[in-house]
This record gives sequence, structure tokens and C-alpha cells, in this order.
Amino acid sequence: MKEKLSKLKNQVKSNLAKAKSLDEVEQVRTKYIGRKGVINEIIKTIPSLPPEQRSTIGKLANELKQEISRWIGETRKKIVAEESVPDAKETFDLSLPGKHKPYGHEHPITQTINEIKEIFSKLGFDVEYGPEVELEYYNFDALNIPADHPSREDFDTFYLLARSAGGDNQLLLRSQTSTVQIRVMKEKKPPIRMIAPGKVFRPDTVDARHASMFHQIEGLMVDEGVSFSDLKYVLTLFAKSYFGQNIKMRFRPSFFPFTEPSAEVDISCSICKGKGCSVCAYSGWVEVLGAGMVDPNVFEAVDYDTEKYTGFAFGLGVERLAMLRYGVDDIRLFLENDMRFLSQF
Ligand code: DAH
Repeated sequence: MKEKLSKLKNQVKSNLAKAKSLDEVEQVRTKYIGRKGVINEIIKTIPSLPPEQRSTIGKLANELKQEISRWIGETRKKIVAEESVPDAKETFDLSLPGKHKPYGHEHPITQTINEIKEIFSKLGFDVEYGPEVELEYYNFDALNIPADHPSREDFDTFYLLARSAGGDNQLLLRSQTSTVQIRVMKEKKPPIRMIAPGKVFRPDTVDARHASMFHQIEGLMVDEGVSFSDLKYVLTLFAKSYFGQNIKMRFRPSFFPFTEPSAEVDISCSICKGKGCSVCAYSGWVEVLGAGMVDPNVFEAVDYDTEKYTGFAFGLGVERLAMLRYGVDDIRLFLENDMRFLSQF
């Protein structure tokens, strides 16, 4: 009987060593130490053994039962631990090179706007925003462009409703950021120093220098005693900060309904250094902004005291500035989302 028990012991050991799953371990358990298992069958035969063997065999059988139960516990633990370790193939390999994701960056026009914001904020200008879908009143009337003014015709395309529908204050895509001057002055009293960046829309024929949507930055300063020399000072300071100390600037007399006197400001063409190229239309100069002293009619539209306050305003074309700065000869490149172009900035 002793021999039989020690044989059993070896059998259980080798069965457990072969077991690959918890199910197989369970089969071993039922077979050997289950209620009707081999060990229990042996224990049942003990009363029929010679009396002197009974207690030794009983003891051995019980010890074996406990031992098997311990081995089963250990085997189960081992299987569970092995199952939770992934296959060698799936294992994370720290030595593999990572997947490269290129960094994105801001669009060159956004970069230009941010740079200009920074320059003006050093001069104490706040940043304001206005809606791109605008009422005629803000785009025209309040800016001293009455309904019959010829300059309205240049912007007569981007109305949101048919001309015949609706009243006389219709919605349109704004043609200029000058609208924000009116919105800000209606809300705040002087002193005002602000710039307003944003998109504008024009029914222009698209070519190397014109797009139907582009960006402007409006500027406005209103206070007691603001003069044209303040305007010249601020714009010269801006041009030198943005283009460098050697940039040349010229003010040409011009006309805008909302400023009097008005000027157009040109920058010496940095692409051809003034020799003449397609960007400057072979003139050596590029117009980058319009400016002037705020017309008293505009102040009246916003209920400012025209005897007390004066102010200057300007509107600059962001794409034009970026083209000059980076030597880009076609405005359409900024709008095409071609990564070969954009990734250079
Ligand atoms: N709004 C004008 C345009 O889009 C630019 C401009 C000219 C803005 C003179 C101004 C200004 O504030 O004073 O052509």
C-alpha cells in the first residue's frame, strides 16, 4: 500500500507538470482528491487492512491529500501568472524607434498677426474683434459711406440676402475691419487705443496680389490732442519694428470717406530692394496700408464730442506685409494649404 501511495504521488506530480490550463488542473484535482477521488477510495479501504498498518497508511494518505492540494494551488497560481504575460511577439520593445509625428505650427498669416499684435501691445494698443458677418450700417453708413456713395459699388457682392429682400440695413460679409472702429467707439469712451485683426471679403478679381478673402488689421487712437504727427510716429515705429531699421516708408495723399486728411502708406519693396518686380508692380514700392485722421462725421455717428476729441485710424493688409517680409510673390499661396509652402514658415 505504501508503494501504491508513492506511485500515486509521482503520477500527480507529472500530471500537474503537464497541465496547461486551469481546467486541466481541475481535472487532476477531481481525479485524485475529489470526493470520489483516488485518495478517498484508498481511505475507504483502510478498515479492511491489517490493524498494524491502518494508522500508518491513514496518516500517509491524509498527508498526501494535503500535499496534492498544496501543489494544485501552486500550479493554479503559476498558470494565472503565465496567462497575464503577453506573447513574446506582442511585448513592448523599448529599443524600437518611435513613430515620428511632425510638429505642427501656426499658419504664416497667424504668425504675422501675432507679431503685429505684439508690436502694438508694446505701444499700449488693446486687441478688439468684430463679426465677419456685418450690418451695412457698420460697414458703410457709420463710416461716412452713405447709400449713394460710389465706393459702395466696389463691395456690392457679398450680401447675404438678395438686394431686393430685407430693409435698408442688410447683412453682408464685411469688406473692411474699419467696422470694428464703430463697434468699439459705441461701447467705450476715449481715450481709445486699439487694433482689430480679422478677415475681410471683397469681390476682387483674384490674381497674384488680390484674393476674395484676406486679413486686415485696423488701428484706432482717439483722445484729446491726437494729431497727424502721432499717426506718422506710430506707423513709422511699427514699420521699423516689423521690417527693420532700414525700411523706407512714404505717405501719399489719398481719400477715404472715414478719414480727413487721408494717406496711403507704401513700403520700399523688400523683394527687389526697390529695383522693380512683380510684387511691387515694377514701381519699387508696395502699398501696405491706408490711414488718416478720423472724420468728424464718424465721431458724430458714435456720439463723440468733435470739438474735444481727435483721432487717427489705419488699416493694414496682413498678407501684403507677410509677402514683403518673406519674399512671397503670390498671395494665393497663403490660401492653398500646400504643405510644401506652409512648412517653410
Ligand atoms: N478700410 C480701408 C480699406 O479697407 C483701409 C483703411 C484706410 C482703414 C484708412 C483706415 C483708414 O482705418 O483710416 O481699404
